[in-house]
Amino acid sequence: MVEMIPKINGEERREEGRFVLPEGEVRVFGAVAYVTVLEDRLAKIGLRRKWNYVEWKERETAAVCFNMLPKEKPEADFAKVEGAYVLYITPEQVKVTSHDPEGLTNGLTTLYWMLREGGGACGCGTFTDAPACGYRGILIDSSRHFFDVETIKGMIEQCSLRKLNRLHWHLSDDQGYRLESLRFPRLNEVGSWRKEPDGSTYGGFYTKAEVRDIVSYAGARGMQIIPEIDVPGHVGAILAAYPRLSCSKEEMEVKNMPGIHEHILCAGDDLTLQCVNILLDEAMELFPYPWFHVGGDEAPKSEWKKCPACQERIRAEGLKDEEELQAWFIKKVVEHLQEKGRTAICWNECMKSGMLDSRAVVQYWDEEEDAGYCRELAEGDRKCIYSYTPAFYFDYEPMLTPMRRMRNWKPVLRDGSQVAAKNLLGVEAAFWSERIEDRERLEKLAFPRLFAVAEAAWNGLADYGEFVERCAKHMRALDEDGVRHYSMDEVDLEGEAQKEAIIKEWKPMVDQARAAGMGHFLDVIGRLVRNKLEGVMDEAMIEEMIEEIRS
Ligand code: ACM
Ligand code: ZN
Repeated sequence: MVEMIPKINGEERREEGRFVLPEGEVRVFGAVAYVTVLEDRLAKIGLRRKWNYVEWKERETAAVCFNMLPKEKPEADFAKVEGAYVLYITPEQVKVTSHDPEGLTNGLTTLYWMLREGGGACGCGTFTDAPACGYRGILIDSSRHFFDVETIKGMIEQCSLRKLNRLHWHLSDDQGYRLESLRFPRLNEVGSWRKEPDGSTYGGFYTKAEVRDIVSYAGARGMQIIPEIDVPGHVGAILAAYPRLSCSKEEMEVKNMPGIHEHILCAGDDLTLQCVNILLDEAMELFPYPWFHVGGDEAPKSEWKKCPACQERIRAEGLKDEEELQAWFIKKVVEHLQEKGRTAICWNECMKSGMLDSRAVVQYWDEEEDAGYCRELAEGDRKCIYSYTPAFYFDYEPMLTPMRRMRNWKPVLRDGSQVAAKNLLGVEAAFWSERIEDRERLEKLAFPRLFAVAEAAWNGLADYGEFVERCAKHMRALDEDGVRHYSMDEVDLEGEAQKEAIIKEWKPMVDQARAAGMGHFLDVIGRLVRNKLEGVMDEAMIEEMIEEIRS
């Protein structure tokens, strides 16, 4: 069987015989968008064919058939989840069937890997397959560094080949606004460009035509794009273009340094919300999917504390403090999206006030300080996308984020509890780009680690050793496709490198505590280390590490 990542999560019934892709003309039934993806992928590996489309009534005689089944009549073979498919292979025909478009592209991808492995042929049988998680995503931050259309498409293709199905596209931040806006032209004239410390100008934005092209390219590959316009913080580029939207109204530049910047949108001025709504409406026209990410992370409240309009808003709305003002602001945005038929996603800080609209989905990345405010994910009904920093922030070097931890991930929260299974939509790996300058770096940080995310989100937990072997073989496919990657020796497969790093971080403190006669401090450190790693590192390894730190 083909060395596919992720491995099939269902039944593989093998039969005698082989299907050989006809030379020359291939009779095909299916939607042009999908067939074109298969055609392009096969052409790239030297399997160029003439694809002739046949009518619906001839579909059973086509050599390649993509058959969408009615949702109202679920077939017995199918798992009841979006993205499931059945692939039937006989000597005469390969047929992909599904109840949804994403399932067809997943089946298409499996078929592609089989034909690639077999040089245009594959063994017969029936393969049923379905994802464990509905949401299998990556985040690309196009603000801190701007990636051109080809780079974005390249990542979409590589992710789609591993059956990832969401691209969360971070399009606005302090360092640049990246979406064309006709309603707010200064967002592009001013907000899309920054002056670098060396005096050069850096930036760019995606035109509407480019975004439509990318959305359609991704859609044909089973990948939905979720845009993020981060508010009320991380808005340096918006405020450089329209300082009127800040509390102080002072002129400022698009930021050229990473970090958390103090200036945020004024929540006391009605104009701010009106503008945000218009901006969201304009962006929504480009993205047909039900989700919209509105950020809500890392919004310092110092400006709101000083701003008469914000303070008046707090008073008039009967709010307790600036945290509740953020909740009020986000609630308005969430309601606006809801009116347009969209579901808002926001970062976990938005739960801090306890007032977040119940319909909003939370993306959990954790802030160090999170005490108990995320318990709603474990004990309530709040839906969650899981991107816990120590496991899923891919801007960190591979030696800091062990593959084993990603592959064996559990949705642990900072306090040791876990996101309830009913609330967990899935998982997302984040490529924050402060230190990702170009396509090569993006690819290297992605691979091979992203294999672990794809495998775990699709398949749950098969044997880790077998998975690592499959990865090693799968690296060949990356090389053939011209995708840059770290080698298997350059990633932390077992967590050993991370263990060493943690010991190095904590041991000096333990030694000092011991020298100062503060024995009880050892237990505190043990607890801290455990909290940091529980559920994401094997228990025996945690014990071993704590012992080593204490010894
Ligand atoms: C984040 O990393 N600020 C979501
Ligand atoms: Zn204000």
